Amino acid sequence: DGGSKGQGGKLAFEPIKAVNAAVDTFDVPKGYSWQPIIRWGDPIFKDAPDFDFANQTPAAQAGQFGYNNDYTEILRQPNGKKGLLVCNHEYVNPQIMFPAAPANDAEKAQRRNIFRNAVGMSVVELERDKKGQPWGYVRGGQLNRRITMDTKFELTGPLAGSDFVKTVADREGRFVLGTLGNCAGGTTPWGTILSGEENFNGFFRTNGSSAEDRRYGLGNAATGMGWELDDPRFDARGADYRNEPNRFGYIVEIDPEDPNAVPKKHTSLGRFKHEGANVIIADNGKVVAYSGDDERFDYLYKFVSKDKYKKNDKAHNMTLLSEGDLYVAQFAGNSAAEIDGSGTVPADGAFDGSGVWLPLVVNGKSAISGMSIQEVLVYTRLAADKAGATKMDRCEDVEPNLKTGKVYVACTNNTKRGVGSGAVADEANPRTENRDGHVVEITERRNDATATTFNWNLLMLCGDPAKNTETYFSGFPASKVSPISCPDNLAFDTQGNLWISTDGAPSTIGYNDGLFKVGLEGRNRGNVEQFASMPRNAETCGPIIHDDESMVYVAVQHPGEDGTYAAHTSFFPDFVAEGTTPKRGQVRAPRPSVVQIFPKDSGKGNHGKN
Ligand code: FEO
Ligand code: CA
Ligand code: CA
Ligand code: CA
Repeated sequence: DGGSKGQGGKLAFEPIKAVNAAVDTFDVPKGYSWQPIIRWGDPIFKDAPDFDFANQTPAAQAGQFGYNNDYTEILRQPNGKKGLLVCNHEYVNPQIMFPAAPANDAEKAQRRNIFRNAVGMSVVELERDKKGQPWGYVRGGQLNRRITMDTKFELTGPLAGSDFVKTVADREGRFVLGTLGNCAGGTTPWGTILSGEENFNGFFRTNGSSAEDRRYGLGNAATGMGWELDDPRFDARGADYRNEPNRFGYIVEIDPEDPNAVPKKHTSLGRFKHEGANVIIADNGKVVAYSGDDERFDYLYKFVSKDKYKKNDKAHNMTLLSEGDLYVAQFAGNSAAEIDGSGTVPADGAFDGSGVWLPLVVNGKSAISGMSIQEVLVYTRLAADKAGATKMDRCEDVEPNLKTGKVYVACTNNTKRGVGSGAVADEANPRTENRDGHVVEITERRNDATATTFNWNLLMLCGDPAKNTETYFSGFPASKVSPISCPDNLAFDTQGNLWISTDGAPSTIGYNDGLFKVGLEGRNRGNVEQFASMPRNAETCGPIIHDDESMVYVAVQHPGEDGTYAAHTSFFPDFVAEGTTPKRGQVRAPRPSVVQIFPKDSGKGNHGKN
């Protein structure tokens, strides 16, 4: 009855039980095993040193897998024996990355440089003896690459070469060093990887006095990372680097098959706290990219390319995100705006309604009066304010289901909804003090991804139904679902089921974060089944569902984040027992890692071969 067994596909499983947030364990369904593919600090180049927790250096980190893996993709060659792992490294957790606090200013400065090499992205070759088996990573693989704060990016689109992005170090306004806050992402139909620059504001010190600075959370305070102490470009108070913060907050595109390619920052998709971006090819051949701005009361965006997709022409397709139209979403409900305390759905049976994609840029021109196209793209939040977009409960991943064309939006939570000066509940964001988040389902008009109007409904209002009367699962019996809170990343399997990974459940429903499968069609619509549970304090990222091989991958981000140098709250994934000597390459401290989950009978795999 609605269980995963017998639903088709090879990935049959019995849902696991939620794990109490005080427990440090990584749980998978009965009959499955797990193994890290690669961990923070694992060397990816031949000449990079083995991870040495007590003696980490900036140079070592530049040759090793970065910290806090978020968006992850695994591209497979047809024979399944070779793969390419691409991964974002969103940020660092300084207080658990070393054995002790820095002893002096020199050590503090050295750590700042380690952090600059621990963020960015990684590309790592994978290999295995045959399809269906667990992977090992290839140390010294030809395509292996680290993207750090020193990697050169090229700006594309209307802001490239404009006065808004010129600095003393880049008088032409064409090239930027590094990428920041890389959170979620997407894989394009032409095989490149998109990555969202999310919380970039915290890395810069600015005058903080303009309306634009305030709207983007930029201010005049010492930054957490302190990079402005070493590199003047992170101090944007003076004339030289006033525009440096304008060079971050974009969707970046990298070609993982060319380790020498200069990655792009696409200004046509606007500048905001991009969670990520996901692309679908419309019936007319244009490519459409959906992207959320993950901030309370911020917006959902859509980009439509000017030119069309050409099969097998990667060079052409890599230009598609450089020019096109940009829209922002406005939702209208058709019944009660707020869920009531008894969990009653609106009188018409659904949280639903219609919507409009409000134009910000159309045909190469600004659609916002008083703003040039460059202003719209660099101050996109302010343009969307003027357009009258709907204030959302923190859009994280936004992903079209390639089987149906419907678009799913993870609204992770917004505890300020209806509080103070924040917007009140509406039918698309129907909870006051939305603690557990919800998922919106959008159907474009005539199922045309380029349409300017749509219909929408809520797939679910998350939570633990055992304790929360304001949950909703599209009519699926709440007593039968796995408790779920704070949806963040989304993925689909080959059957078209939605998979949701969470970030924040420990502080809301008291369980560790996890990975969940959700049925979308028929009797199974709204059925939430938990597949994996993360270690203590960790967020579930990735995820990748290769149900054709019965394999699932997650990026375990910030395990043990609430711990300290002296007192760790997680020992994932090495789980070295107290008082024992760690094996080579292991450490008795938490390490963000990309994990593979596979049926127990799939064989031993290649991990540890390196
Ligand atoms: Fe980095 Fe919106 O999560
Ligand atoms: Ca309704
Ligand atoms: Ca996220
Ligand atoms: Ca999140």
